[in-house]
Amino acid sequence: MEKMPYQAGLEGQDVRFQQPVMQPSATLTVSTDWRDRLPVLAGATVTLRELRASDASSLFALLTTEEVARFISPPPTTVEGFERFIAWTLRQRSAGTYACFAVTLDATDTAIGIFQLRQLEPGFGTAEWGFALGSAYWGTGVFLEGAELLVNFAFNTVGVHRLEARAAVRNGRGNGALRKMGAVQEGLLRKSFLKNGEYLDQALWTILEEDWTGKKGRNAEEGVIIH
Ligand SMILES: CC(C)(COP(=O)(O)OP(=O)(O)OC[C@H]1O[C@@H](n2cnc3c(N)ncnc32)[C@H](O)[C@@H]1OP(=O)(O)O)[C@@H](O)C(=O)NCCC(=O)NCCS
Repeated sequence: MEKMPYQAGLEGQDVRFQQPVMQPSATLTVSTDWRDRLPVLAGATVTLRELRASDASSLFALLTTEEVARFISPPPTTVEGFERFIAWTLRQRSAGTYACFAVTLDATDTAIGIFQLRQLEPGFGTAEWGFALGSAYWGTGVFLEGAELLVNFAFNTVGVHRLEARAAVRNGRGNGALRKMGAVQEGLLRKSFLKNGEYLDQALWTILEEDWTGKKGRNAEEGVIIH
């Protein structure tokens, strides 16, 4: 999450993705390409869907608090900044390099957080994910449900084979959440994340597609609705 690619001022620098990614899952029928529009990923109580400009105000309110922003790259500082961020996410999705989902609860459709996925190499074989939720939703199970939807999307739809995450070592919840997802801590990235003028160590966590489908394979396509 810490170094996910959006930065205010870089909005014009989209890079078009050249080659379509082949889908590794023979059983998932995808009627439209995720690059044209993100699918709605529906869990029991959590739904991930594409961001909309109208999500800017709730994301601004929920993701700019001190406790949420403490260990992540600085979020936009205004509602308009979030609107620009959302427009940027849509351009990056069209380019095939990145996807950002709004986290919503079935009852409301209000965006209460985001899950991001970006390629670390052309073709999306290796990718990085990141996430942030409004603090009112921490410890409620929303993370785990949303994370399973996102990871299934990464492996089954996008074709990722190695999914990385970086979490500042001091970020107890971030590391605890990744551990809970079954991610493996592969190493320590010393002084790899600049936050408030200080370089922080980060843990590198990974999930491999073969580990994930071995564990979750039977349910891998559950809840995926393609629009
Ligand atoms: C990261 C985030 C999405 C996780 O969601 P969450 O609802 O807090 O996660 P959960 O409560 O499901 O899981 C966190 C786990 O870490 C554990 N944990 C909490 N503090 C901890 C600490 N200091 N050390 C170790 N584990 C800790 C929790 O007990 C929990 O495990 P449990 O469910 O087995 O008890 C949320 O905390 C968040 O948005 N944080 C701010 C943004 C951020 O830091 N993003 C991550 C960047 S890597």
